[in-house]
Amino acid sequence: MRVIITEHAAELAARATQVIIEQIHKKDNSVLGLATGTTPIILYKSLCHAYKGGEVSFRQVSTFNLDEYYNLPPSHHQSYRYFMDEHLFSNIDILPENTFLPTCMADEDALEQGSKYETLIAERGGIDLQLLGIGANGHIGFNEPGSSLASRTRLKTLTQKTLADNSRLFSEGEYQPDMAMTMGVGTIMDSRQILLIASGVSKAKAIKDMMFGSVSAACPASVLQMHPNVIVIVDKEAAACIDDKEYFDLAESKMQQLSNDR
Ligand code: GLP
Repeated sequence: MRVIITEHAAELAARATQVIIEQIHKKDNSVLGLATGTTPIILYKSLCHAYKGGEVSFRQVSTFNLDEYYNLPPSHHQSYRYFMDEHLFSNIDILPENTFLPTCMADEDALEQGSKYETLIAERGGIDLQLLGIGANGHIGFNEPGSSLASRTRLKTLTQKTLADNSRLFSEGEYQPDMAMTMGVGTIMDSRQILLIASGVSKAKAIKDMMFGSVSAACPASVLQMHPNVIVIVDKEAAACIDDKEYFDLAESKMQQLSNDR
Protein backbone atom coordinates (compact mmCIF):
# COMPACT_ATOMS: atom_id res chain seq x y z
CA MET A 1 0.00 0.00 0.00
CA ARG A 2 1.52 3.30 -1.09
CA VAL A 3 0.39 6.03 1.29
CA ILE A 4 0.66 9.72 0.42
CA ILE A 5 -0.10 12.17 3.23
CA THR A 6 -0.84 15.63 1.89
CA GLU A 7 -1.04 19.00 3.62
CA HIS A 8 -4.59 19.74 2.53
CA ALA A 9 -7.46 18.62 0.32
CA ALA A 10 -6.26 20.68 -2.67
CA GLU A 11 -2.91 18.86 -2.69
CA LEU A 12 -4.77 15.57 -2.31
CA ALA A 13 -6.84 16.39 -5.40
CA ALA A 14 -3.74 17.40 -7.37
CA ARG A 15 -1.95 14.13 -6.54
CA ALA A 16 -5.00 12.03 -7.34
CA THR A 17 -5.46 13.91 -10.63
CA GLN A 18 -1.87 12.99 -11.53
CA VAL A 19 -2.53 9.29 -10.90
CA ILE A 20 -5.65 9.29 -13.10
CA ILE A 21 -4.02 11.27 -15.91
CA GLU A 22 -0.98 8.95 -15.87
CA GLN A 23 -3.32 5.99 -16.22
CA ILE A 24 -5.06 7.53 -19.25
CA HIS A 25 -1.74 8.50 -20.84
CA LYS A 26 -0.58 4.91 -20.41
CA LYS A 27 -3.78 3.54 -21.97
CA ASP A 28 -6.11 5.95 -23.75
CA ASN A 29 -9.05 3.52 -23.60
CA SER A 30 -8.67 3.01 -19.85
CA VAL A 31 -11.58 1.67 -17.86
CA LEU A 32 -11.98 3.81 -14.76
CA GLY A 33 -14.05 2.95 -11.71
CA LEU A 34 -15.48 6.14 -10.23
CA ALA A 35 -16.88 7.23 -6.88
CA THR A 36 -19.31 9.82 -5.59
CA GLY A 37 -19.43 11.69 -2.28
CA THR A 38 -18.00 15.02 -1.20
CA THR A 39 -14.34 13.99 -1.32
CA PRO A 40 -14.06 13.40 -5.10
CA ILE A 41 -15.74 16.71 -6.04
CA ILE A 42 -12.48 18.67 -5.87
CA LEU A 43 -10.72 15.89 -7.79
CA TYR A 44 -13.33 15.95 -10.56
CA LYS A 45 -12.98 19.73 -10.74
CA SER A 46 -9.26 19.33 -11.16
CA LEU A 47 -9.75 16.66 -13.88
CA CYS A 48 -12.13 19.01 -15.76
CA HIS A 49 -9.49 21.73 -15.49
CA ALA A 50 -6.80 19.37 -16.85
CA TYR A 51 -9.10 18.43 -19.73
CA LYS A 52 -9.78 22.10 -20.57
CA GLY A 53 -6.04 22.78 -20.49
CA GLY A 54 -5.49 20.01 -23.05
CA GLU A 55 -3.61 17.76 -20.63
CA VAL A 56 -5.91 14.77 -21.04
CA SER A 57 -8.73 13.44 -23.20
CA PHE A 58 -11.44 11.06 -22.06
CA ARG A 59 -12.62 10.33 -25.62
CA GLN A 60 -11.81 6.65 -25.39
CA VAL A 61 -12.23 6.16 -21.66
CA SER A 62 -15.06 4.08 -20.16
CA THR A 63 -16.25 4.56 -16.61
CA PHE A 64 -18.10 2.39 -14.12
CA ASN A 65 -19.43 4.00 -10.98
CA LEU A 66 -19.33 2.16 -7.70
CA ASP A 67 -22.93 2.64 -6.75
CA GLU A 68 -26.32 4.19 -7.41
CA TYR A 69 -29.38 4.69 -5.24
CA TYR A 70 -32.15 2.16 -5.70
CA ASN A 71 -35.15 3.32 -7.68
CA LEU A 72 -33.93 6.87 -8.36
CA PRO A 73 -34.22 7.86 -12.04
CA PRO A 74 -31.10 9.39 -13.62
CA SER A 75 -32.88 12.75 -13.88
CA HIS A 76 -33.36 12.91 -10.08
CA HIS A 77 -31.01 15.51 -8.62
CA GLN A 78 -29.98 13.11 -5.83
CA SER A 79 -29.06 10.29 -8.22
CA TYR A 80 -25.40 9.52 -8.65
CA ARG A 81 -25.87 9.73 -12.43
CA TYR A 82 -26.94 13.35 -11.94
CA PHE A 83 -23.93 13.95 -9.68
CA MET A 84 -21.50 12.49 -12.21
CA ASP A 85 -22.99 14.48 -15.11
CA GLU A 86 -22.81 17.67 -13.09
CA HIS A 87 -19.32 17.27 -11.64
CA LEU A 88 -17.52 15.45 -14.44
CA PHE A 89 -19.15 13.97 -17.51
CA SER A 90 -20.77 17.11 -18.92
CA ASN A 91 -17.50 19.04 -18.63
CA ILE A 92 -15.19 16.61 -20.43
CA ASP A 93 -15.13 14.84 -23.79
CA ILE A 94 -16.21 11.42 -22.53
CA LEU A 95 -18.86 9.70 -24.66
CA PRO A 96 -22.06 9.33 -22.63
CA GLU A 97 -22.48 5.77 -23.93
CA ASN A 98 -19.20 4.85 -22.24
CA THR A 99 -20.36 5.86 -18.77
CA PHE A 100 -22.08 3.27 -16.59
CA LEU A 101 -23.72 3.15 -13.17
CA PRO A 102 -25.27 0.11 -11.46
CA THR A 103 -28.92 1.08 -11.67
CA CYS A 104 -31.99 -0.76 -10.46
CA MET A 105 -35.53 0.57 -10.62
CA ALA A 106 -38.42 -0.94 -8.66
CA ASP A 107 -39.70 -2.87 -11.68
CA GLU A 108 -36.31 -4.45 -12.32
CA ASP A 109 -34.70 -7.50 -10.79
CA ALA A 110 -31.73 -6.50 -8.62
CA LEU A 111 -29.89 -9.81 -9.03
CA GLU A 112 -30.21 -9.59 -12.79
CA GLN A 113 -29.14 -5.93 -12.82
CA GLY A 114 -26.13 -6.77 -10.66
CA SER A 115 -24.97 -9.56 -12.90
CA LYS A 116 -25.51 -7.43 -16.03
CA TYR A 117 -23.24 -4.79 -14.51
CA GLU A 118 -20.56 -7.39 -13.80
CA THR A 119 -20.81 -8.60 -17.43
CA LEU A 120 -20.50 -5.05 -18.76
CA ILE A 121 -17.34 -4.49 -16.72
CA ALA A 122 -15.87 -7.78 -17.95
CA GLU A 123 -16.78 -6.97 -21.58
CA ARG A 124 -14.75 -3.75 -21.34
CA GLY A 125 -11.77 -5.76 -20.11
CA GLY A 126 -12.11 -5.08 -16.37
CA ILE A 127 -11.35 -1.95 -14.38
CA ASP A 128 -7.84 -0.52 -14.77
CA LEU A 129 -8.06 2.04 -11.99
CA GLN A 130 -10.78 2.17 -9.34
CA LEU A 131 -11.25 5.39 -7.40
CA LEU A 132 -12.61 4.93 -3.87
CA GLY A 133 -13.69 7.13 -1.01
CA ILE A 134 -14.27 5.61 2.41
CA GLY A 135 -17.19 5.83 4.78
CA ALA A 136 -16.55 6.75 8.42
CA ASN A 137 -17.58 3.15 9.22
CA GLY A 138 -15.05 1.74 6.76
CA HIS A 139 -17.47 1.13 3.90
CA ILE A 140 -16.28 1.22 0.30
CA GLY A 141 -18.89 1.81 -2.37
CA PHE A 142 -21.96 0.99 -0.31
CA ASN A 143 -20.46 -2.20 1.10
CA GLU A 144 -21.42 -1.68 4.69
CA PRO A 145 -19.75 -3.47 7.63
CA GLY A 146 -20.79 -7.12 7.42
CA SER A 147 -20.60 -7.21 3.63
CA SER A 148 -19.03 -10.35 2.22
CA LEU A 149 -15.46 -9.68 1.20
CA ALA A 150 -16.18 -11.73 -1.95
CA SER A 151 -19.43 -9.91 -2.83
CA ARG A 152 -20.36 -8.83 -6.34
CA THR A 153 -22.63 -6.02 -7.57
CA ARG A 154 -25.93 -6.23 -5.70
CA LEU A 155 -28.56 -4.35 -3.75
CA LYS A 156 -27.58 -3.28 -0.21
CA THR A 157 -29.49 -1.67 2.63
CA LEU A 158 -27.63 1.30 4.11
CA THR A 159 -26.76 1.43 7.80
CA GLN A 160 -28.18 4.10 10.10
CA LYS A 161 -24.63 5.47 10.43
CA THR A 162 -24.27 5.93 6.65
CA LEU A 163 -27.76 7.41 6.39
CA ALA A 164 -26.94 9.88 9.17
CA ASP A 165 -23.54 10.77 7.64
CA ASN A 166 -25.08 11.38 4.22
CA SER A 167 -28.19 13.17 5.48
CA ARG A 168 -26.26 16.47 5.21
CA LEU A 169 -26.63 16.11 1.44
CA PHE A 170 -30.44 16.06 1.63
CA SER A 171 -32.61 18.99 2.53
CA GLU A 172 -35.01 18.73 5.44
CA GLY A 173 -37.98 16.51 4.67
CA GLU A 174 -36.43 15.36 1.38
CA TYR A 175 -36.69 11.64 0.60
CA GLN A 176 -33.37 9.90 1.34
CA PRO A 177 -33.07 6.45 -0.25
CA ASP A 178 -32.00 3.73 2.18
CA MET A 179 -31.01 1.13 -0.42
CA ALA A 180 -28.46 1.22 -3.20
CA MET A 181 -26.93 -0.97 -5.87
CA THR A 182 -23.21 -1.24 -5.28
CA MET A 183 -20.24 -3.00 -6.78
CA GLY A 184 -19.27 -5.76 -4.38
CA VAL A 185 -16.03 -5.90 -2.42
CA GLY A 186 -14.95 -8.71 -4.77
CA THR A 187 -15.76 -6.54 -7.80
CA ILE A 188 -13.61 -3.74 -6.39
CA MET A 189 -10.77 -6.13 -5.58
CA ASP A 190 -10.69 -7.30 -9.23
CA SER A 191 -9.56 -3.82 -10.33
CA ARG A 192 -5.95 -3.74 -11.48
CA GLN A 193 -5.18 -0.66 -9.40
CA ILE A 194 -7.03 1.12 -6.62
CA LEU A 195 -6.79 4.77 -5.61
CA LEU A 196 -8.42 5.58 -2.27
CA ILE A 197 -8.83 9.19 -1.20
CA ALA A 198 -9.95 10.52 2.18
CA SER A 199 -10.11 13.94 3.70
CA GLY A 200 -11.01 15.23 7.15
CA VAL A 201 -10.78 13.99 10.71
CA SER A 202 -14.09 12.09 10.47
CA LYS A 203 -12.22 9.55 8.30
CA ALA A 204 -9.15 9.18 10.55
CA LYS A 205 -10.29 6.05 12.41
CA ALA A 206 -11.54 4.35 9.25
CA ILE A 207 -8.16 5.00 7.58
CA LYS A 208 -6.31 3.50 10.53
CA ASP A 209 -8.61 0.43 10.58
CA MET A 210 -8.24 0.05 6.84
CA MET A 211 -4.44 0.10 6.98
CA PHE A 212 -3.68 -1.65 10.26
CA GLY A 213 -6.84 -3.38 11.48
CA SER A 214 -7.61 -7.05 11.00
CA VAL A 215 -8.87 -7.88 7.54
CA SER A 216 -12.50 -8.25 8.38
CA ALA A 217 -16.00 -7.50 7.15
CA ALA A 218 -16.24 -5.24 10.23
CA CYS A 219 -14.24 -2.74 8.13
CA PRO A 220 -14.79 -3.66 4.47
CA ALA A 221 -11.96 -1.31 3.37
CA SER A 222 -9.47 -3.46 5.35
CA VAL A 223 -9.59 -6.01 2.52
CA LEU A 224 -7.46 -3.55 0.52
CA GLN A 225 -4.53 -4.86 2.57
CA MET A 226 -4.83 -7.93 0.32
CA HIS A 227 -4.67 -5.96 -2.94
CA PRO A 228 -1.24 -5.71 -4.57
CA ASN A 229 -1.63 -2.25 -6.11
CA VAL A 230 -3.26 0.34 -3.87
CA ILE A 231 -2.46 4.05 -3.57
CA VAL A 232 -3.97 5.87 -0.59
CA ILE A 233 -3.96 9.66 -0.69
CA VAL A 234 -5.12 11.38 2.48
CA ASP A 235 -4.87 14.83 3.97
CA LYS A 236 -3.28 15.41 7.39
CA GLU A 237 -6.63 15.22 9.18
CA ALA A 238 -7.57 11.88 7.70
CA ALA A 239 -4.06 10.63 8.55
CA ALA A 240 -4.39 11.73 12.19
CA CYS A 241 -4.61 8.19 13.64
CA ILE A 242 -1.71 6.73 11.65
CA ASP A 243 1.03 6.19 14.25
CA ASP A 244 4.19 6.34 12.17
CA LYS A 245 3.37 9.09 9.67
CA GLU A 246 7.10 9.93 9.31
CA TYR A 247 7.71 6.48 7.84
CA PHE A 248 5.13 7.03 5.09
CA ASP A 249 6.48 10.53 4.35
CA LEU A 250 9.99 9.11 4.07
CA ALA A 251 8.89 6.19 1.89
CA GLU A 252 7.04 8.57 -0.42
CA SER A 253 9.96 10.98 -0.73
CA LYS A 254 12.22 8.04 -1.60
CA MET A 255 9.76 6.91 -4.29
CA GLN A 256 9.70 10.47 -5.68
CA GLN A 257 13.49 10.59 -5.66
CA LEU A 258 13.69 7.34 -7.61
CA SER A 259 11.26 8.55 -10.24
CA ASN A 260 13.07 11.92 -10.57
CA ASP A 261 16.38 10.08 -11.03
CA ARG A 262 14.96 7.96 -13.87
C1 GLP B 1 -21.02 7.33 0.12
C2 GLP B 1 -20.50 6.58 -1.10
C3 GLP B 1 -19.07 6.13 -0.91
C4 GLP B 1 -18.22 7.28 -0.40
C5 GLP B 1 -18.76 7.71 0.93
C6 GLP B 1 -17.95 8.83 1.57
O1 GLP B 1 -21.52 6.53 1.10
N1 GLP B 1 -21.29 5.44 -1.41
O2 GLP B 1 -18.57 5.66 -2.16
O3 GLP B 1 -16.90 6.87 -0.28
O4 GLP B 1 -20.07 8.19 0.72
O5 GLP B 1 -18.31 10.04 1.00
P1 GLP B 1 -17.75 11.44 1.39
O6 GLP B 1 -16.64 11.68 0.44
O7 GLP B 1 -18.89 12.37 1.14
O8 GLP B 1 -17.33 11.42 2.79
